[in-house]
Amino acid sequence: SNFSYIRGLGYHVPERVYTNADLEKFVDTTDEWISSRTGIKQRHVVENETCLDLTFEATQKALKNAGMEADELTHILVATFTADTIIPSTACLLMERLGLKHRIPMDISAACSGFVYAVEVARALINLNPDSKILVCGSEVLTSRVNWEDRSTCVLFGDGAGAIILTSEDCENSGKVIDVLLSSEGESETLTVRGSGSAYPYKLGDVVGEEHFIQMQGRSIYRKAVRSMSSISNEILAKHGFTTKDVDLLIPHQANLRIIEAVGKKLELPTEKVFVNVDKFGNTSAASIPIALAEAKEIGAIKSGDLVLLATFGGGLTWGSTLIQF
Ligand code: ACO
Repeated sequence: SNFSYIRGLGYHVPERVYTNADLEKFVDTTDEWISSRTGIKQRHVVENETCLDLTFEATQKALKNAGMEADELTHILVATFTADTIIPSTACLLMERLGLKHRIPMDISAACSGFVYAVEVARALINLNPDSKILVCGSEVLTSRVNWEDRSTCVLFGDGAGAIILTSEDCENSGKVIDVLLSSEGESETLTVRGSGSAYPYKLGDVVGEEHFIQMQGRSIYRKAVRSMSSISNEILAKHGFTTKDVDLLIPHQANLRIIEAVGKKLELPTEKVFVNVDKFGNTSAASIPIALAEAKEIGAIKSGDLVLLATFGGGLTWGSTLIQF
């Protein structure tokens, strides 16, 4: 089988920032509560930008980073649950904006794990056709699904997009995707966004109800996220003859600093080997891992030769891990 290589990475977040102090103005919360429970200090929130706008900017940066032109792309995969429109998909809208025709565009839905799921789809496509050059994005305007009156959820989320390009060619500076492991537990209660689904249709004149927003059982997610991310990380390492001592950097889904720290601890990784940017961006769902990966590369937290481990967890419930050799 053909390996997939990461040729370019990029991320983009909207300019506007809501600090914890800003949130104190509209919900009954404090910077102290948010910081101590989540590690989040601020999040970026769209003003006029849409999911497509964020995806487009991240894509431009990934293309530039790869030294590629948009028309070299064969497939466009966008992991999101906050697409601009139900039809067309974000991937189709992005094709239009990039001026492309006759490509293979699709959105992929696996909540926060969407990006890692999309990487696995891209790997399969590259195995079907080694000439594929696949753009894989994770993009969310989560704040469109945030109830700004619910303090137990609104403090957690932010907007942003990240993108990578996967090919079968090993180039200078590229990251070899050694493997992806995915798992899930199909269930319908722990984390939901139900509104506008066909079982929860909107009718003309409806007032948006609670089901429009992200609803979650925070404690349950916390426990399951720690358990699932650490076990699937150990599994992928063992499968390839590695131990956690071989890992140079763990990039976990950026949901919450306490979850991230608990996963790092279970894997016995020192804190400097666990990448954290949740303080700046909050939880950006499917965008969280590609943003973190692109930022880590940009700031030199990933060096040539490094073994990088991704671990994700999200609604569905879905989880997964990825091993990349840079
Ligand atoms: N400010 C102040 N008080 C708050 C806030 C807030 N923003 N939110 C909740 N509280 C209050 C609650 O009302 C509750 O008060 P009560 O005891 O009087 O009822 C109290 O704080 C404690 O609430 P808990 O829910 O018990 O707090 P907990 O310690 O469990 O922390 C948290 C909550 C941070 C949500 C935690 O459960 C968590 O991190 N869960 C993971 C959730 C998550 O990351 N979801 C993201 C989506 S899924 C994913 O991406 C993997």
